[in-house]
Order: sequence, then structure tokens, then C-alpha cells
Amino acid sequence: MLQNIAHQWRQPLGSLMMIIQSFQTKMELGKLSFDFVEQKVDDALLLSQNMSNTLDDFQNFFSPNKDKTNFKIKDCVEHSIQLSKYLLVKENIKLNLVVVDDLEIYGFYNELSHVLLNIISNSKDALKIKEENKLIKIVIKKFKGKARINIYDNGGGIEEDVIPQVFEPYYTTKYKSAGTGVGLYMSKQIIEKHMQGIIKCKNVFNKMDNINLEYGALFIIDIPFEKK
Ligand SMILES: Nc1ncnc2c1ncn2[C@@H]1O[C@H](COP(=O)(O)OP(=O)(O)OP(=O)(O)O)[C@@H](O)[C@H]1O
Ligand SMILES: [Mg+2]
Repeated sequence: MLQNIAHQWRQPLGSLMMIIQSFQTKMELGKLSFDFVEQKVDDALLLSQNMSNTLDDFQNFFSPNKDKTNFKIKDCVEHSIQLSKYLLVKENIKLNLVVVDDLEIYGFYNELSHVLLNIISNSKDALKIKEENKLIKIVIKKFKGKARINIYDNGGGIEEDVIPQVFEPYYTTKYKSAGTGVGLYMSKQIIEKHMQGIIKCKNVFNKMDNINLEYGALFIIDIPFEKK
């Protein structure tokens, strides 16, 4: 539980540090405006509220009595993109969201958001070596009677011998300080144990920005429409 919380706190903590530093930088330049303060305070409150929710999310992680709700996948994805904003801007990554079908599911909104944050964060790491045109694309559509979320990046893909192990606990190809191998294991637990879905990955060539066909990882999440 503690490991999950620590894992999900690292990104927003980094973003909060960037926001705090941005106040100092703007002030030194004499450009600290009302609008800037208002925007950054909003962002910081959203991030800290999310960190607070994360404590509850993982405290209740194994509790069977927690409540599922009906929600639009698009809202959950947009919320997760908003929470990833600072790390995406910092790494110069463009993120495209394509809503083919505006689907509603019955499940755990916050938990799905943790999964999306993990996958976006992994793409960010894979894109580190790329110099330009760093892209992530998320597509929401109906597929074979289920809600499907595809998350592509153009970071060069997952090593072929690594693919069968990515969802195992503590499996990481990153340096100890950078990765613990918890992210995708936690994501699989959430999708398959808590939401009766399926998560898988492969490498594909994909038209990322309508011009270039580029190689990268694709994570596929299928969630049933179960309703109560
Ligand atoms: N988008 C991706 N592109 C390339 N490789 C990936 C991608 N996503 C995951 N991987 C591979 O899968 C491994 C496992 O991912 P996972 O998120 O579980 O752990 P981690 O990112 O290494 O560490 P942690 O998430 O705990 O910080 C990664 O170390 C990496 O080798
Ligand atoms: Mg990870």
C-alpha cells in the first residue's frame, strides 16, 4: 500500500516543486502577475487535492465495499492529462486525445486515473531519448462490446524480451533511482482485479501526427460496460 502511494506521489510532488520555483523565477524577473498566481494556485490545489485523494484510494484499495460509479472515460482521461500537464510540458511532449466514442462505464474513476498516469509516465520515460516530435496519443472507442482505451507513444517501443514481463511486480529496466517496477503491476491489478477488464501491450507503427509513421509502445485497456 505504502509503495503504491509513494509511486503515485512522485509525479505530482515534482510538479508542485516546479510550480513553487516558478513563483520565484517570475518574481525575480518582475513578472509575477495576478493571472499567473491565480493559474498556478489552481494547478497546485488540483495536484495537492489529487495527492490527498491518493491516500484514500490506496487505503481503500483492498476494501470490497468501496463504491463504483458511472462516469465518462473522456472525463477521467482529461483529468489525468491535466494532472500530467507539468511533466508533459517539461519534457516537451504533445498529447493528443481522440474520442471516437464518448463512452460511459461503471467503475472506479480514481483507480482508472492512476492507471492512465502510470502509462503516461512510462511513455514520458521512453520519450526521453527522442530529440523532437515527442507524442502520446490516447484513443477512446467501442470495441467488441467493450470500452477500449488505446495509449500510443512514439518512444521506440518496448524491448521484445521485456514485453512478457512488464506487468510483473518489481520488474523494471530503469535504474534503481528511476524505477521500482510497481507502475504496470498496480495498473494490471486495477484493470483486471477491480474492474474485470484486460490490459495488454505491444509495439506498433502508428501514424502519430498524421504525417509520420513511427514505432512505439501501445497499451490497450478493455473495460466491460457492466452497470448497476
Ligand atoms: N511506453 C513504454 N515504452 C517502452 N518501454 C516501456 C513503456 N512502458 C513500460 N515499459 C517497460 O516496462 C517496464 C515496467 O514498467 P513499470 O511502469 O511497471 O515500471 P517502471 O516504470 O520501470 O518503474 P516504476 O513505474 O515503478 O517507476 C519499464 O521498466 C520499461 O522497460
Ligand atoms: Mg512506470
